[in-house]
Amino acid sequence: MSRRAILVPLLALAGVLAVLAFARPEPVACAADGADFLSQKGCKKCHFKQAKSWKKTVHAKALDCLKPGANAEAKTKAGLSVDTDYTKDPKCLKCHVTGYGQTGGYPEVKDAWNEDEQKLAKNNGGVGCESCHGAGSKYGPYKKDHEEYKRADVVALGLAVPVTADNCTGCHNKNSPTGPKPYVFDFEKMKANAEAIHAHVPLKHEH
Ligand code: HEC
Ligand code: HEC
Ligand code: HEC
Ligand code: HEC
Repeated sequence: MSRRAILVPLLALAGVLAVLAFARPEPVACAADGADFLSQKGCKKCHFKQAKSWKKTVHAKALDCLKPGANAEAKTKAGLSVDTDYTKDPKCLKCHVTGYGQTGGYPEVKDAWNEDEQKLAKNNGGVGCESCHGAGSKYGPYKKDHEEYKRADVVALGLAVPVTADNCTGCHNKNSPTGPKPYVFDFEKMKANAEAIHAHVPLKHEH
């Protein structure tokens, strides 16, 4: 066999492996190209009703269930320890806060946070707006004027709307230790659960 005859299939195999490595689902909701996180406070000033309603949801409180003593039954059933403080465990934080370790998102765990990091932690605890809608530093400040608002423009700047299953399955997947076994995620049903997402307010204009 010629060297080329061996090399070509080898290169093809390497290519397939590289694609597979990149195609593996990431456990985090990723930022749009080059966009940073604003935190829910950055959305609240223009979307007050959604923010007020979101605050009462399990997503907003998702950091609380990592605290020692919380959700004892679910943790025991999943083989987790009830007394451990999982709010310091990056593995859990990736799915229980907004933008873990990313610019403007929840800061990486370390011995002590500085003042800025403490503020970021406060504003990005729980699964916030940008976990589902994408990091907002580009589309967030887009335009206050409703008349000029165009959906295609903000989508090009990284806003996820309509939200698809891909915006959820970065967290709602088999790596969730307390999730159903075998893992199922019924997107349409879960998305319709406004109690877990937020109350919907009709847009003021067609885009
Ligand atoms: C400066 C004000 C402003 C900020 C900040 C802002 N938005 Fe908006 N957003 C708007 C306006 C205006 C619209 C159009 C609303 C309408 O027509 O009623 C809109 C629309 C949307 C829509 C609906 C898009 C559609 O076409 O269906 C989503 C989702 C959204 N924003 C999410 C966010 C999120 C998440 C953040 C925070 C990262 C954010 N926005 C920050 C002003 C803002
Ligand atoms: C768990 C995921 C999730 C989170 C967290 C979330 N949203 Fe949404 N949002 C949705 C879904 C789903 C829709 C329905 C629209 C669609 O089909 O894409 C939506 C719709 C919207 C809309 C369009 C108008 C409306 O009320 O339906 C706005 C504006 C919006 N979200 C803003 C926000 C803001 C601001 C926050 C944070 C305070 C937030 N969202 C948090 C999933 C989420
Ligand atoms: C950043 C991670 C993350 C993303 C993204 C996310 N979720 Fe969640 N979701 C969670 C966590 C964590 C909980 C559990 C919170 C708790 O119990 O305090 C949860 C709980 C829920 C619940 C209520 C509990 C249940 O299992 O019935 C629903 C419904 C839900 N999510 C739907 C969605 C939908 C729909 C999307 C996408 C539009 C989405 N989530 C995106 C992390 C996420
Ligand atoms: C891959 C993302 C992901 C990771 C990693 C993750 N979680 Fe979660 N967690 C979720 C989601 C999504 C839910 C909602 C239940 C579901 O559908 O999986 C949830 C729900 C929970 C709940 C509430 C369960 C209930 O029914 O009361 C607890 C407690 C919890 N997680 C603890 C943890 C701990 C502790 C860790 C780390 C050891 C962890 N999670 C890691 C995604 C994750």
